[in-house]
Amino acid sequence: MNDVEAINAMVRQAAEKAAQETNDEPEPILVGDLNWPITCELRPGLEGAIACGTKIGYVNGSKGWLIYRGINIFELAEKSSFEETSYLLLYGKLPTRKELDNFRMKLAGYMPIDETVLAVLKRSPTARVRDTHPMTALGLCVLVLGMLDEKAEDTSVENEREIVIKLIAQIATITGMIARLRSGRDPVEPEPSLSHAANLLYMMTGERPSPVAERIMDISLILHADHGMNASTFSAMVINSSLANAYATISGAIGSLKGSLHGGANERVLYDIEEIGSVDNVEAWFQKARESKRKLMGFGHRVYKAYDPRARILGPLAGKMSENNPEIKRLYDIARKLDGMVCAELGVEKKIFPNVDFYSGIVYRALGIHAGMFTPIFAASRISGWGARFLEYLENNRIFRPRAVYTGPVREEYTPIDRR
Ligand code: CMC
Repeated sequence: MNDVEAINAMVRQAAEKAAQETNDEPEPILVGDLNWPITCELRPGLEGAIACGTKIGYVNGSKGWLIYRGINIFELAEKSSFEETSYLLLYGKLPTRKELDNFRMKLAGYMPIDETVLAVLKRSPTARVRDTHPMTALGLCVLVLGMLDEKAEDTSVENEREIVIKLIAQIATITGMIARLRSGRDPVEPEPSLSHAANLLYMMTGERPSPVAERIMDISLILHADHGMNASTFSAMVINSSLANAYATISGAIGSLKGSLHGGANERVLYDIEEIGSVDNVEAWFQKARESKRKLMGFGHRVYKAYDPRARILGPLAGKMSENNPEIKRLYDIARKLDGMVCAELGVEKKIFPNVDFYSGIVYRALGIHAGMFTPIFAASRISGWGARFLEYLENNRIFRPRAVYTGPVREEYTPIDRR
């Protein structure tokens, strides 16, 4: 078994462990025919609300089950590539070899980016590029791409699908560009012969990744590609439902993903682990965090009330990468211990377990990536799910327009300014 096969075997083992600990029955109300209107119980944050029907993906939160287009995430992580998974999400079927080759060529062809984008970043003072959050820069660059596209305002499904494919390619390029500029180095051109995962790593680090590094990044991109009606996906769908245009949609989704309760958690996890410092401090840190009711980054989920299947895969991969790397081993050992303590206490009390963001940062750090770039990598993957979902909705578009319950007075008098 070579090194890449060994990584795939680890994914298989994670799948076997998940299968032993969970069974995968669909949830009755959340799978099946959709007949409007729906009666459901709503809580703040739209908890419980059903926004649409979809054939793209399903999360069974109580069992820890994630599928894209009917295929279990473990199987995709072991056998697929990010390009193939993106095709699956966007077109609803696995591509033939020829379709996949064409899709790959299209992505590679779209990767080189108009120099205006680099000029915008380069014209900013270097310190600002370094200090501005990379997600802010990424969102801005997507809007710049929209300004440069003469067909940006064509909101037909066909044109927006083409833009999504272009952005799958170009968000990777911009992510690489930002990573390089932040570390005071010049961007490197995309290398069309590389896979998407390898190219992303190459454009960030300037080095061609090893087959193992490439495979691990590929798995991570597959795992992050789609996840139900999460905040950024829903943001994308809401923005696109007004026919704003695909660039405004994706830029808005990037803004939503940035937050620390969503994709931004992956970066924060690493800061928490650094704050803990050593495995001996985990217990005291955790107890103090509990006493102060501190939110533990990388734990908990609106939908999962079981161990996140993506963390089941990323945890062992982080462990694998910690072998022969003392610095990563230090981070991983802290994470493992915290994971165990949280599961034993909060898992039992409140069904709080690690989510996808808990181990991804350690994996990326092991791949030589700075913490500030973790969430852009998430975006470079989730663009596929955002696109698949807002395009599916666009086919039968109806603008999102919920209402709020008004809790203020209704017959207040207008007091003139000199009597206030
Ligand atoms: N640490 C400590 N307590 C938590 C956590 C956490 N990470 N998450 C939830 N709880 C507690 C919360 O305090 C509440 O306790 P109580 O009932 O005593 O008031 C209970 O669990 C229910 O939590 P909630 O805040 O109602 O849950 P939510 O569905 O509104 O929030 C969440 C979900 C993901 C925003 C939240 O779990 C959280 O803030 N986690 C940390 C940030 C994070 O890791 N985000 C990534 C989410 S997954 C991937 C992604 O989207 O990027």
